[in-house]
Amino acid sequence: MSKIINGFSKLNKIEKIDWLVETYFQNNQKVKQVFMQYWNSNPVLQDLHDDFIENTISNFYLPLGIAPNFVINGRDYTIPMVIEESSVVAAASLVAKFWSTRGGFKAEVISTTKIGQVHFMYQGEKVELTNYFNSKKENFYKVTEEITKNMRNRGGGILGIELRDKTAELKNYYQLHVTFETADSMGANFINSCLEAISHEFEKDDIQIVMSILSNYVPECLVRAEVTCKVDELYAENSELFAQKFVQAIQIANAEPHRAVTHNKGVMNGIDAVVIATGNDFRAIEAGAHAYAAKSGTYKSLTNATIENRIFKFWIEIPLAVGTVGGLTSLHPLSKLSLNLLGNPPAKELMQIIAVAGLAQNFAALRALTTTGIQKGHMKMHLTNIIKQLGASEEEKEFLINYFENKTITHNAVVEAYNKLVDEK
Ligand code: MEV
Repeated sequence: MSKIINGFSKLNKIEKIDWLVETYFQNNQKVKQVFMQYWNSNPVLQDLHDDFIENTISNFYLPLGIAPNFVINGRDYTIPMVIEESSVVAAASLVAKFWSTRGGFKAEVISTTKIGQVHFMYQGEKVELTNYFNSKKENFYKVTEEITKNMRNRGGGILGIELRDKTAELKNYYQLHVTFETADSMGANFINSCLEAISHEFEKDDIQIVMSILSNYVPECLVRAEVTCKVDELYAENSELFAQKFVQAIQIANAEPHRAVTHNKGVMNGIDAVVIATGNDFRAIEAGAHAYAAKSGTYKSLTNATIENRIFKFWIEIPLAVGTVGGLTSLHPLSKLSLNLLGNPPAKELMQIIAVAGLAQNFAALRALTTTGIQKGHMKMHLTNIIKQLGASEEEKEFLINYFENKTITHNAVVEAYNKLVDEK
């Protein structure tokens, strides 16, 4: 039976589910139930979510957790995090507490410039193109005046428009490289609208516009977060060795891209969780962060650490184009609340909070990896998940957790111990 359908988007939600269940799930009504079980009982709220995307049939829940005890630039924060991976929120909370008694996190925004480009092909003389560009430059600002009006009132707008010759990279390829300040919004729509208006103004017979789009590579929308303390205050058991191995772990990431990718993945555990909770675009953040990690030509760590004069310093520098107005930030009730929880920060403050979450996560990962290893914590979680799957009672759960305190946890071993416990009863 063909699974191709015409006019699917015109069906209502129930019809869409019916088609899906019939076509892919042998008309199993239990499947329909599962999809519908996640509908919100409040129709207004459900409608809101239905309209975020197209062809919505249900909601896909992710947990929203909070990590308290963050001190950033002397201010206390409880950070909202949306993530499916266990241990991330717990690690963030532990690290937040740890650094709260060592001066907290310091963060600063280095720059906030965003970039958009009109990519085009031109075969003629470069000097003529340059003259044409110069003759048009004033008009670019004029044709975008309506679009930039509000943004200019908020201190943003177009910062500069440059003609760039890219013919060394690709034959006939030039671009208009446009820089923007977008204040508290992420600015994607604003930038793209400006670019399209500029490209229409620029287009002529011998200029073939290929596309106009913002860049998610924003090395000039940069934030830095840092922690520092005396080496002696770092780790109870052997501070010196701990600090040394911590720095080595970063050196290894810088020397070995295989490790750097995992290292940065740990950073992004913290970053993405806050980006999602606050209604920002995590794909844009991911793409930009990894490009930044590779800016030297080799993929490297996003974090750095030094020990100088017995002082340990650990920091991150990362591009983060995020917004606290516009987009999903006020549309999604939980993003709105997340921003409320953070004190309705301007975008610059949110950049600092997010960078701190990434740094904290990397600290937790490296601390675990260079000391006990991460499996200890993970296997504990694994154990509780298996116990839950087995349907153990509270009493049995407590017994099994104690039983496995000093034993190797495997799925089989837990099942065996559980069965034995049940048999003995
Ligand atoms: C797991 O989600 C993240 C880590 O692998 C990060 C790292 O290895 O640094 C623990």
